[in-house]
Amino acid sequence: MAERTASPTRWLAGLAVLAGAAVAPGCAHDAPASRETPNALAPRGTGSRIVAEEWWFTFSLGSVVFVTVMGLTLFVLGTRRRRTGPVEPDDRGKLQWIWIGGIIVPVVLIGAVFGVSMRSIVALDGVGGDDELTVSVTGHQYWWEVEYEDLGISSANEVHVPVGEPVRIELTSADVIHSFWVPEIHPKLDMIPGETNVLTIQAERAGTYRGVCAEYCGLQHARMQFVLVAMPPDRFDEWAAARIQGPPEPAGDVERAGFEVFGDAGCAACHAVAGTDYQGWAGPDLSDVGSRLTLGAGVLDNNPGNLGGWISDPQQIKPGVRMPATRLEGEDLIALIAYLRSLR
Ligand code: CUA
Repeated sequence: MAERTASPTRWLAGLAVLAGAAVAPGCAHDAPASRETPNALAPRGTGSRIVAEEWWFTFSLGSVVFVTVMGLTLFVLGTRRRRTGPVEPDDRGKLQWIWIGGIIVPVVLIGAVFGVSMRSIVALDGVGGDDELTVSVTGHQYWWEVEYEDLGISSANEVHVPVGEPVRIELTSADVIHSFWVPEIHPKLDMIPGETNVLTIQAERAGTYRGVCAEYCGLQHARMQFVLVAMPPDRFDEWAAARIQGPPEPAGDVERAGFEVFGDAGCAACHAVAGTDYQGWAGPDLSDVGSRLTLGAGVLDNNPGNLGGWISDPQQIKPGVRMPATRLEGEDLIALIAYLRSLR
């Protein structure tokens, strides 16, 4: 994503996104600096490309209509001002204007928009094929449970997919309605408790893309975010192999002490770590937390300082989050951070 420059197209797209921001929930302003504000008009996935093409077509057509109508209006105002004397009645001419401007042109233009929309709907339906990788994503207030059931991988707040291959995303919710949206990859789809909605996405370019919750779900809706990591297929296979293997045993004394703190401090009541007795399920799985890009579902960059701050007082960072503060002695906190950082 390094090739982004300020072309006129990007300026226009930026203006449009600014206008859209007023009605687009989940466009957080305080996310980690490592991820740019997602731009649905800079598509990197098949679904978003289809929608962006339609958006530009509709926008261009609308602009032509707007300029034409404004031009005619100004023309009429200008000629009226210059004209003296009464207006000659000419019913035939007026009827022609009604036929052309009121019926024929709108039918043609709306028909064109309708046709392009139908083409988009059919094209969106066509994303996907056989042998798709399946990922189950469950929405929680305010995080994302990520499950690769075929591969036996559990994770959270990060979805890894291979580039150029369709991926079947099965969406549901554990509490209220959320919505899964990676603006640069694919249009959004709601996550509804008790139902499974299926989205087939296909990333066209490797990169990390910010995903957002696009349905108001409570106090921290705007900061319920995730990262979609699109990787070349061989890199994805490496990633999956490492995840299937699970995190390493605690290597040093500090990590081993941290492993004990994890149990003693009550972390395991809500969090799971693969290959251990820690199997809580109320909060995000932490089996690979050391290698994730963000903490707190996209709120903080993942580094030791932020991790310590998050453990000590998550309510300060993300008020309303389900995780309570964990009061630890300095030594225990350092050990716990070291252990969590080793989970990758
Ligand atoms: Cu979850 Cu908004």
